[in-house]
Amino acid sequence: MADFQNILTEEKNGVLYLTVNREDKMNALNFATLEEIKGIFEEAADNRTIKAVIITGAGEKAFIAGADISEIATLNEVNARKFAENGQEIFAMIENCHKPVIAVANGFTLGGGCELAMACHMRIATANAKFGQPEVNLGIIPGYGGTQRLTHLVGRGKAIELMMTGDMIGAEEARDLGLVNYVLPTKVEAMEKAEEIIGKIMSKAPLAIGMIVDCVNAAFLSDENGYQTEANSFSRCVKSGDYKEGTSAFLEKRKPIFKGE
Ligand code: COA
Repeated sequence: MADFQNILTEEKNGVLYLTVNREDKMNALNFATLEEIKGIFEEAADNRTIKAVIITGAGEKAFIAGADISEIATLNEVNARKFAENGQEIFAMIENCHKPVIAVANGFTLGGGCELAMACHMRIATANAKFGQPEVNLGIIPGYGGTQRLTHLVGRGKAIELMMTGDMIGAEEARDLGLVNYVLPTKVEAMEKAEEIIGKIMSKAPLAIGMIVDCVNAAFLSDENGYQTEANSFSRCVKSGDYKEGTSAFLEKRKPIFKGE
C-alpha cells in the first residue's frame, strides 16, 4: 500500500489495518481522508493478499468524531448534494466489500464516524466508545447513509430519537440496541476480538463470504428481490471448487482447504 497523509495502513496475516490518523482533530473525516479511504478499498478489493480489513481511529479518544466541521461549514446547496453522494458511494464500497470489514470503535464514533462504522460489516466497541448522530446540532442531518443504516440497525423509533435529539449513547447501550456486536474494555482487547472473528472467517470459503455480503445487503434494497439474489448466489457457490472441497472434506472427515475459487 502507498503512503497516505491521513491514514496509516499495515498488512499483517492477511488483514489490512486501516487507522484514521488525525488524532488532534478527533480523527474527523475531511475530504482528503475520505478519498484516501476510497483508494484503499479500491485496492483492497483486488489485492489477493488482503483477506479482511479492520478500521480504527488513532489514539484512545476517538474512532472518528464526524465529518470535518470546518469543511462542512463551507458547503452550499449544490456541492452539499455531491458531498453526500460522494460519501454514500464510498461507504457503499465498504458495505459491499466481499472481504469482512470490522470497525473497532475506540472512543467517539459520531456523525460520519458512526456512519462509517455502520457501513462496516461488524462493529466492536471499546468500553469508552460513544455513538451518536449529532448533525442536528449543526442544522443538518446525516448525509453519508446514516438515516438509512441507523434505521436498519436499531429500528425506526430509536433511530429517529437518536437523530432528532443528537444524543450520544455509550457502548453497552449501543450493543443492546444492535448497533455494536461486542464491547471490550480496551482497544487492545477490541482489536483481539476483531482478529479472532476474522481468523474464524478466514478459515471459511471466501466466495461464500462474498455471497453472504451480497445477499444481506440485498435485504435492504427495495429494487432487488433478496430471495432471488440468495438463490443466484447459492448457485454460484455450487459452481466453485470450494463447494467441492467443503463437501468432500466433510464426507472424508478432514478439514477443508479453501482456495477462493
Ligand atoms: N470536525 C472538525 N474538528 C473536530 C471535530 C469534527 N467533527 N470533532 C472534533 N474536532 C476537533 C476540535 O475542533 C478540536 O480541535 P482544536 O484543538 O483545533 O480546537 C479537537 O478536535 C479536539 O476536540 P475537542 O472538542 O476539544 O474535544 P472534547 O474532548 O472537548 O470533545 C467531542 C470531543 C467529540 C465531543 C467534540 O469534539 C465534538 O462534539 N465534536 C463534533 C462532533 C460532531 O458534531 N460530529 C458530527 C459532524 S457532522
